[in-house]
Amino acid sequence: MLATSTNQKAEEIVKGVKNLPSLPAVIQKLIMILEDLSCSTMDIERIVSTDPALTARILKLANSPLYKGVHEVATISQAATRLGFWKLRDVAISIGTTESLSGMADEKAQQTYWHHAVYTATCANILAKTGGMPIPEETFVTGLLHDIGELVFAAVSPEQFALLQAIKPHNRLGKEEELFGTTHTRIGNLLLKQWLLPKRLCDTVRLHHNEQIYTSKREPVLSIVALADMMSKVHGLGSEPNCSAATLALLIKRSGVNVDQISEVLRQVDQQVANTQKDLEIAGDVSFLTPPSSSRNYKIAMVSSQQSTTMWMEQLLSYLGHTALPVSDFMEDPETAHLVILDPDASNTALLTRMQPILEQMQNHLVILESETAPAIGFLAKMKLPEIPLFLTQEKIRQYAKTNF
Ligand SMILES: [Fe+2]
Ligand SMILES: [Fe+2]
Repeated sequence: MLATSTNQKAEEIVKGVKNLPSLPAVIQKLIMILEDLSCSTMDIERIVSTDPALTARILKLANSPLYKGVHEVATISQAATRLGFWKLRDVAISIGTTESLSGMADEKAQQTYWHHAVYTATCANILAKTGGMPIPEETFVTGLLHDIGELVFAAVSPEQFALLQAIKPHNRLGKEEELFGTTHTRIGNLLLKQWLLPKRLCDTVRLHHNEQIYTSKREPVLSIVALADMMSKVHGLGSEPNCSAATLALLIKRSGVNVDQISEVLRQVDQQVANTQKDLEIAGDVSFLTPPSSSRNYKIAMVSSQQSTTMWMEQLLSYLGHTALPVSDFMEDPETAHLVILDPDASNTALLTRMQPILEQMQNHLVILESETAPAIGFLAKMKLPEIPLFLTQEKIRQYAKTNF
């Protein structure tokens, strides 16, 4: 009953958007024909050649440094062979949606949306390739469109949308229901259905916040997009609540990527994001990517008995240009640490008790990992320590690290 009413509300909202963009007919036809795996490159050429602007963009992309071969491609048939049908479908959806959505909401909301969307899409694609996914292309377009419903919210009610972004509620979907009567997942699903996009894509947009589904073995695309969605937080992008350490560990496992490859994935994404924006002709700079080399190197001790969390943190610290300090070194000489991060969910009580004098000494540069439960050990609870997210940002490290050294 509740689902029906939020569906109705979603329909009302989508209908109420003035100048709701439609996907160009040629793109719709192209996507449909590419779903039929028996189509030929000539079928594709026949459709695309009716639109000179689309023809030019596909040729330009096929000859761009990312896909360029020995010879320049001059026809859509050659471009289709070079890019492959999956990539071509990806490109068609990306070109069609970026074109249709331009100007839909105010500039700031659009820029926020595209930064997060392009980062998530690029990161998902690199994670999929690193983890050995057989058809990594699908992750790109899912990453690009997963939050498309947010753009509709921004167009319908910029004030309510700005409020939602500012408060970053823990129960994001619940707050959306309260403010808009529906969620960005339903709105996105509906919009993509109206554009006659493939059902798989519509479904993944609808389900991208369903933890039981995106952590399931049967949904590799959703798992990777959920991980990329979370990884964008390292740059302060995205407005969805953080996942727990246990969910993060499961998502990494599902992606097929080893934790020790994460810093390299983050570096590759940084190199690729600007090209992705250029390929999709999305305006805007990429200054949100923090150049790790520009920061000061801090030595940071991580106190946790959870190996996956420690390894994740080590990877993020390495990416951000800092050094993870082994707990034994820190215990021997506490002065060497500029910051101590404590995992309240996975810290051994006996060890913490032993470390109490050192931790008290570091009190001003001691933070605890964000957790739903308060620290079980008394002296830590009394300290009222600031929390730091599992998705560390350079800004948070600078805020809490010791600078007088
Ligand atoms: Fe979302
Ligand atoms: Fe997102």
